Amino acid sequence: MNKILYLTSELFPLIKTGGLADVAGSLPPALTRLGQEMRVLLPAYPEVMRKVKQPSLLASTRYYNQEVKLLETRLPENGLSLWLVHCPAAFDRPGGPYINGNGEPWHDNALRFAIFCLVAVDIALSRLNLNWQPDIVHGNDWQSGLAPALLQLHSRRPATLFTIHNLAYQGLFDHQTFLDLDLPAGLWHLDGLEFYGQLSFIKGGLAFADRVNTVSPTYAREILQVKFGCGLEGLLQHRRHRLSGILNGIDSRVWDPKHDKYLKAPYGTENLEQKSINKTLLQQQLGLPVDSDIPLIGMISRLVEQKGLEIILQGMADLLALPVQLVIVGTGDTHYELQLSHWANRHPDQIKVIIGYNEPLSHRLEAAGDLFLMPSSFEPCGLNQIYSLRYGTLPLVSNVGGLADTVVDADAENIKIGTANGFVLPNQTADDLLATLRRALGLWQTDTWRQLQLTAMGNDYSWRSSAKHYLDLYHLALGDRRGAMG
Ligand code: ADP
Ligand code: GLC
Repeated sequence: MNKILYLTSELFPLIKTGGLADVAGSLPPALTRLGQEMRVLLPAYPEVMRKVKQPSLLASTRYYNQEVKLLETRLPENGLSLWLVHCPAAFDRPGGPYINGNGEPWHDNALRFAIFCLVAVDIALSRLNLNWQPDIVHGNDWQSGLAPALLQLHSRRPATLFTIHNLAYQGLFDHQTFLDLDLPAGLWHLDGLEFYGQLSFIKGGLAFADRVNTVSPTYAREILQVKFGCGLEGLLQHRRHRLSGILNGIDSRVWDPKHDKYLKAPYGTENLEQKSINKTLLQQQLGLPVDSDIPLIGMISRLVEQKGLEIILQGMADLLALPVQLVIVGTGDTHYELQLSHWANRHPDQIKVIIGYNEPLSHRLEAAGDLFLMPSSFEPCGLNQIYSLRYGTLPLVSNVGGLADTVVDADAENIKIGTANGFVLPNQTADDLLATLRRALGLWQTDTWRQLQLTAMGNDYSWRSSAKHYLDLYHLALGDRRGAMG
């Protein structure tokens, strides 16, 4: 049994902007089931404070002249022990965890997540009189990047693991911020936190954690290349012997078409015909022509470049010339929101665009769709294609990262051997998107389609096996640490 301090800046069902929340809400409980003693550290955003039950005070401290309290609570869903960094000056404000109401990053993000990391460091070094010291500190994404960097300055410290969920978000700030945060001067160098003259939070994790991993085996290989490395490929190559990829699992209780609380017509492989009721209901709800013979394509996504919106918009006119309906639920960059809405206004019988974050609708669309669109330019893991597999909504994806690791293309060979479960673009272009879509539509309403659905729904992407890989990684990190301490 190891004691693990798991650092995350979002956690489902309390606060979510993307897949990290889903992972943070489901991996720690899976690791608890494997005998690990987990404490999850999360900023006490107002939304979180509203949802949790009477947290109790564990410790009080101060950083940068701000009062900080460490609070403790448990998640009613699974008993997970949650520690909250309560610092009103940093976290108690309306808006998102990283951006304000105008979609701009909070001006003091560096300070906010430095405070978060300093709490983690003080817990890790047993400075808060908690009677609990982790064996391992497990950070996620740039928001926790300073923790491994600061911890490695100490000889007696826990082992560290840093998980990359998305290398494109790096937590970059100017040099003055590094000075203002009063970070140790020795960390300002090429092999430290400095990145082309800027302060890089994510480098703290990449350069200094005992082990680094990312969320799919393919993305772990891709980020060693210039094309996917976001300028960090050199550092990652240098640390490649400490770098690995573990495919995300999903919370199979939250995402289960048989027991989904948002569905009027739950279904499984044994009553798959029920699935089309969900389609009819959604068509009615959204004001689309109600017709079970028109294939419905769904997309649920942050509307950012990563998610393939460029090629979707390039191919939109041709896509809408096909006999399909398209439903997109998402929020993100304003220019994508506007362009998509423009198409929806011009073709109200074929495309609906719902701007905003909408949990119930995302479940209903997974159930209602025939195809799920996810042609990302890069995708560290991707969870929506996995949810789609589980819902028998065949994913149409690009051939990158976790998409390549989870979706098996319905080519003749894969259909024959029974492994096909979706459609994979040869290249991430508008032409290939349309060609692949036409190929998919050629199989629509055939026996093969049903076979693909059954294969998809039978795939097991629960945490069962992936959580064990994290255990192995924890052991490796502890081994590295022991080795280093002699
Ligand atoms: P990423 O983390 O890059 O956004 P993932 O596929 O890993 O991509 O995870 C995205 C998660 O966020 C999924 O659970 C998805 O359902 C959810 N999501 C994204 N956009 C929305 C939205 N507009 N409404 C509801 N859920 C959304
Ligand atoms: C990131 C990635 C996504 C991944 C998620 C959870 O947001 O963009 O691919 O599934 O993190 O690991």
